[in-house]
Amino acid sequence: MEYRTLKNGVTMPMEGFGVFQVRDFETCKESVLNAIKAGYRLIDTAASYGNEDAVGAAVRQAVEEGVCTREELFITSKMWVADMVNEETAAAAIDASLQKSGLEYLDLYLLHQAMGDYFAAWRAMEKAYEEGKLRAIGVSNFYPNILANFCETVRIPPMVNQVELHPYFTQEGALENMKYYNVVPEAWAPLGGGRYNSFENEMLKGIAASHHKTVGQVILRWNVQRGVVIIPKSTHEERIRENFDIWDFELNEEEMKQIASLDMGYTGSRAKHFDPDFVRMCLGRRIH
Ligand SMILES: NC(=O)c1ccc[n+]([C@@H]2O[C@H](COP(=O)([O-])OP(=O)(O)OC[C@H]3O[C@@H](n4cnc5c(N)ncnc54)[C@H](OP(=O)(O)O)[C@@H]3O)[C@@H](O)[C@H]2O)c1
Repeated sequence: MEYRTLKNGVTMPMEGFGVFQVRDFETCKESVLNAIKAGYRLIDTAASYGNEDAVGAAVRQAVEEGVCTREELFITSKMWVADMVNEETAAAAIDASLQKSGLEYLDLYLLHQAMGDYFAAWRAMEKAYEEGKLRAIGVSNFYPNILANFCETVRIPPMVNQVELHPYFTQEGALENMKYYNVVPEAWAPLGGGRYNSFENEMLKGIAASHHKTVGQVILRWNVQRGVVIIPKSTHEERIRENFDIWDFELNEEEMKQIASLDMGYTGSRAKHFDPDFVRMCLGRRIH
């Protein structure tokens, strides 16, 4: 396992475990516990996933069982846009995440979207960071122009930006911009979110076979080799272990290029941040 150092000196594991759409408490708790036992130290949840409580319960159990210490874990959550109304609602959202997870502090807290009054929400995050409730603060789904404006404007610039990053949507320009602002990139849907039929791709299968690895492991490895933190999700114990077994091989330059050539230049996900209907949907408004 490797780590990235954030601009405030905090170290962040380069591989974590995502729990989007794992709504059931027991399933989520068990998956997170399996992940921690498999070696994952970063867990990625969000207020909108409705499972901060299950993540907190798994963390407590892992620590009680002596699998690891709380300090070794890096727990991330995110503020949903409904709470980005003003500083007070945002501060209450941070406290709600802490209360639901039952954790004294979170290692990273993100603005889930650049929607609502996200500048006011950020001011609440800056305060919580200074109070020690959050060890690091960042953003998610901030596209390059929005991230540049944000970094140029706020008092404490974000340390991480979690965006969609996989071989079918490589976002090289966005990575360049994050590098410029010393913002660590974190990939959501690092396996493509189950889309794109990547597991059947002949080129990926060939590269995987030559390294005695699976297509999933090759896709994940490709992102970490370009400096991107990854947070694959699975509720299957075998896959949880498989996805973490990527630290003993290296893709060569040619393989890195071949994999990047799958880029479509746009997302195939339903989260279409440039679509006004998607923004209205996130804000709970009428969709036209
Ligand atoms: N910030 C945001 O807006 C945002 C948006 C989306 C996601 N996220 C975060 O990013 C995390 C990962 O994204 P994601 O869950 O959308 O997509 P993902 O991790 O790219 O893919 C998950 C899908 O791939 C399957 N899978 C996992 N490992 C596999 C393997 N080794 N072989 C074959 N299939 C495999 C999973 O199925 P099974 O579970 O059945 O194994 C699931 O259907 C989320 O859990 C969440 O924490 C953030």
